[in-house]
Order: sequence, then structure tokens, then C-alpha cells
Amino acid sequence: MLVLFGIMRTQIVTEGCTKLEVPELKSFRTLAGDYAPSLTSVFYNPHMEFSRDISVLALQTLANEHRGLVVCDPLAGVGARGIRYAKEVSGLSKVVINDLSSVSFELIKRNVNLNDVSPIVELKNSDANVLLLENAHEFDFVDLDPFGSPVKFVDSACVALKRRGMLAVTATDTAPLSGVHVRACMRKYGARPLKTEYHHEIGIRILTGFCQRVAGKHELALVPVLAHATLHYFRIYLLVRRGARNVDEIFKQQGYVSHCHDCGRRVFAYGMVPELEKTCTCGGRMFHAGPMWLGSLMNRAFLHDMIAEIGRKNFRLKREEVKLLGRCADEAGGPPLFYDVHEIARRTRSQPPKLDDLISRLRKLGYSASRTHFSDTGFKTDASMDELVKIFKDL
Ligand SMILES: C[S@@+](CC[C@H](N)C(=O)[O-])C[C@H]1O[C@@H](n2cnc3c(N)ncnc32)[C@H](O)[C@@H]1O
Ligand SMILES: [Zn+2]
Repeated sequence: MLVLFGIMRTQIVTEGCTKLEVPELKSFRTLAGDYAPSLTSVFYNPHMEFSRDISVLALQTLANEHRGLVVCDPLAGVGARGIRYAKEVSGLSKVVINDLSSVSFELIKRNVNLNDVSPIVELKNSDANVLLLENAHEFDFVDLDPFGSPVKFVDSACVALKRRGMLAVTATDTAPLSGVHVRACMRKYGARPLKTEYHHEIGIRILTGFCQRVAGKHELALVPVLAHATLHYFRIYLLVRRGARNVDEIFKQQGYVSHCHDCGRRVFAYGMVPELEKTCTCGGRMFHAGPMWLGSLMNRAFLHDMIAEIGRKNFRLKREEVKLLGRCADEAGGPPLFYDVHEIARRTRSQPPKLDDLISRLRKLGYSASRTHFSDTGFKTDASMDELVKIFKDL
């Protein structure tokens, strides 16, 4: 056990091959066995190791294509992400690690020394937005990992990004994004969420669409390569492409979904101001969500490269990570917004089929079909709700 500033007990944990001095875990473990990082003066959440492993893989995949990358971790906590990048990703030229909190800053310094990464690390103790704005076009990879919503950092991150870079964003305000707090989502993201069986996917698409619209004014097109909803957070990885024409292409794939709660039908409307159907073919009222990104959230080739990278890493959570990335690769290229097998079984008063049987049946009938990482009982297909009802009744 170590003590920082005489105020905080700390301990050493290991993630990947990085050692981290963090607030003593038992000091913020709840009775339910969870962690409450808000109880400590420096932020560290052990449950985010999974997210950090995935981030290391994404950055390594990017670094394999472009050597000498400059990385920024502007909201670093104990420095877990930035230090892991410096230690575990090959081919980086610099990692800037920043936190506004002076206690965090001290701990990050100790963690940099603990891992011998000072030659490529630059430490800052600044406001994240100031740091990003002062470093226009300096970073190839910006990792926004804030408390709650990332919205107030996206604009400055776009200023700081270089051509061909990548923006990684975490959002833990999943309740507004998923339709629990509708007005909070509209205030923050300028979009209406909707509670449905696929509300997490709507939330991640609203988050993605928001980042793309902010980037659009900088003439940056943000193209998703991976988006996942895990535990209490959403995480998205967006490749940067420059130029008004690329931005226009992105905006063509923004749009709305109209959902009928009576029959479960959903209709997509593409563009910024499309006409939305008010009434469903069943006579029910349509409820709308958007604007949001309706294009692909996943890039299969990028994900396969990430999976190949796992083989070279010694990650504790490897099995779960391969499962997540495999599911994400499966759903790449599929249509937006998954269906839930139990929901359709309930509507059709039939037994829920085995997902693998349903997927092969759909494929035999000529539809696209895959599982989705969003839910163990979810599937993606281009078959319509009417067609699915028929298939469920036959099964
Ligand atoms: C969720 S924690 C970061 C967790 C960290 N990325 C990790 O993986 O462990 C958010 C951090 O942002 C810092 N922070 C909050 N507002 C900030 C700001 N405006 N500028 C810089 N740091 C800020 C907090 O001190 C906190 O350490
Ligand atoms: Zn309907």
C-alpha cells in the first residue's frame, strides 16, 4: 500500500502489461461489489479495463497503417489510457496525457515513471478544451473519456485532429441517449431518443450523428469503424476524412427512424429534413427518433485486424473481447437497428426460435441476417417486420 499526498491510499494494479498506481480499490468498492469512483479524489474504474484493452487494439491497428502517430488523452484520471498506449502500442511518436485535477496530475507522473514511458510522454495539467484548442491539427488520435457526456469536448477535439486521424469517444450518459431522459438528450445532442427494444442502438447512433455534425463544420467527415454498447457506457471509434464532399456523404446517411409501438414496424428516413410518416400501415401512431447516423457502425476489415492484434496481447479479458469484436464484425454491413427475438415471439404469440436457426432460415430466404453485439437475443436483418411475423409463425 502507498499513500499519495498523505490523503489517499493507493495500490498497484496491472492492465495489459502496464502497472498502474490507483486509489486503493477497497476504499471505493460498494456493498454490491461494484465500484464508485466518485468516492475517490482521482478517477479510476477497474471495470473499464475491457474498454481500455479495446482502445489499445484500435490504436495499434491504426498505428500499423500510419507510423509515428501523436496521441492525446486529455481526460486521463490516473493516466490509464495514455500510459497504456505509450507502453503497449508500437509505432507511436508521442502521447500527451492531461488532467485538470492536480492530484490526478501527480498520480499520472508517478505512473509514467513506474512504466518507464517518459521518453514519449508529455504531461499536462490543463483544461482539456484549452489543451485541444492550443494544439490545432497536432493529434492523430484523440481519446475523449469524460464523466457522463462528451459533448462539451467534441468541438475542440475536432480542431486538434490531424488529417487521417481517429476520434475515440466514451459516453456514460446512456440514460438520456437511450430515451429515459428525453429532454436531456435533446438539449445535449440536439436529437430525440426513443425507448424501444433497440434503444441502445438508437443512443449510440445519436452520439455518432452528433459527433459527425460537430465535425462537419470543421469540414471533417467522421467514419465509424467500431461502436459498442457495454455495461454502462457507449464507445465509438471514428476515422477522420477531410473535405466538404466527404462530409456531404456522411450527412446523406444521417436521418430518423419512425417506430410503431403497436406492430413494431420501423421506417427509416434519410437526410436532415426528411418527411416522416405519421401513421403506420397498421393504423398506429409513428414515434420518431433522430437525427442520428443510419450508416454502418462497423468496419469489418478494421475489426479483423483488431482481432488479429489480440493474439499478440496478454489481456486478461481476451475471451470476452474476441466475442465482442467477432459479433461487431458479423453485424458490419447489416442494416441499422436490430430486432429482438423475444419481442417478435411475444407479438406473434409463438415460441422464440433459436437465433442460429432463425438466422440460417432468413439467409436461405435471401435476406441478410446476423447476430448483434447489442443483445444476446438480438439479430439484424433486412427482412421487414411483416416478413418476420410470417417467418415466426411458420417456425
Ligand atoms: C472518467 S475520468 C477519466 C478516466 C480515464 N480516462 C480512465 O480510463 O481511467 C474523467 C477525468 O476528466 C477529468 N476532467 C474533468 N473535466 C476536465 C477538464 N475540463 N479538463 C481536463 N480534465 C478534466 C477529471 O479530473 C477525471 O480525471
Ligand atoms: Zn404499426
